[in-house]
Amino acid sequence: MGPIAGPELVAAVSNAGGLGVLGCTSMSPEQVRTVIHRTRELTDRPFGVDLILPALIEQDGTKISDVAERIPIEHRETAARIATELGVEQPGGSDNRETGRNALGTDAEAQVQVILEEGVPVFVGALGSPGFVVDRFHEAGAVVMSVVGNTKQAVSVVKDGADVVIAQGTEGGGHTGHVGTLALLPQVLDAVEVPVVAAGGIGDGRGLAAALVMGCEAVWVGTRFLATEEAGIAGWQKDGLVDAADQSPVISRAYTGKRFRLLPNQWTKAWEAAELDPLPMPLQPVLTELTLGPWATDRGGKEGISMNGAGNIVGLVKDVVPAAEVVREMIADATARLDGFRPPAA
Ligand SMILES: Cc1cc2nc3c(=O)[nH]c(=O)nc-3n(C[C@H](O)[C@H](O)[C@H](O)COP(=O)(O)O)c2cc1C
Repeated sequence: MGPIAGPELVAAVSNAGGLGVLGCTSMSPEQVRTVIHRTRELTDRPFGVDLILPALIEQDGTKISDVAERIPIEHRETAARIATELGVEQPGGSDNRETGRNALGTDAEAQVQVILEEGVPVFVGALGSPGFVVDRFHEAGAVVMSVVGNTKQAVSVVKDGADVVIAQGTEGGGHTGHVGTLALLPQVLDAVEVPVVAAGGIGDGRGLAAALVMGCEAVWVGTRFLATEEAGIAGWQKDGLVDAADQSPVISRAYTGKRFRLLPNQWTKAWEAAELDPLPMPLQPVLTELTLGPWATDRGGKEGISMNGAGNIVGLVKDVVPAAEVVREMIADATARLDGFRPPAA
């Protein structure tokens, strides 16, 4: 979840008995190393690192400014116009960082190298298949998990070597597919032999209990952790989550070019009104970054333009609490619900 899931949130989740996962996609390799070190200062327990993976990693010296040149002029002008109308000071200039062809324009190969060097025990690949890095993580003794949105993808990533499948239904926050969680889970459970982790619309013990009863090994939670004290987003964003209802999140391609469930704002609405086709990755994210600054998701981001990812479970979020409380309550409530429950004989 990008800088939202930084060392404080990840360590709090791991210390409370969960498995925290750092969202490192938008970070430089040096930043990835720094957040891993910081997390180790805050917890002795296992944690993971998540990257949105490109289809393949190529090191060809491509710079972000080279990618920017492939963005159609109409899109560049539209982004600049919207930014000006919204009073956003555009960073301007050219960006000479190498992209490494990551889906978001950051250097995925160097990020992977750092995660391997640091001996992080769990790697999570979002969007693309982790197939081309699986062997290296296995040689390093790490577990590889892969986020999928449909059964075909689940089968494919397991074939590519993933040890665990995280099946995320469309109601989940962030990048998301088309199939609802309740329909997705039994089909993925039937299709793969590896452990399945349920994701999308799980925010309390009821969701955890339901996933376990269905046969999943665990749950993967995004939206509920956004409204925690440790989440790396601004106070106004947390307030917005508390105020939101189940139908508030919508799907927008404005930030990344791919379907992303979020709370709409002036930026997403203006893009929708412009009726331009979203660009493929990494063009749309690079356009967003060059126009708004780094993702406009940093702590203290700007109201109206900062990305507010959220899933439909957001209506359940009534307060901002410590992350450990979310983990403990979820486990305690699910345990109480499952007390006396007997799974059917195999
Ligand atoms: C703001 C936001 C950013 C996200 N970024 C990532 C990411 O970088 N990598 C990833 O694997 N999943 C990402 N996700 C998806 C979550 O990991 C998770 O699959 C999803 O939030 C689960 O559904 P839920 O929101 O209903 O709990 C993001 C979700 C949100 C809300």
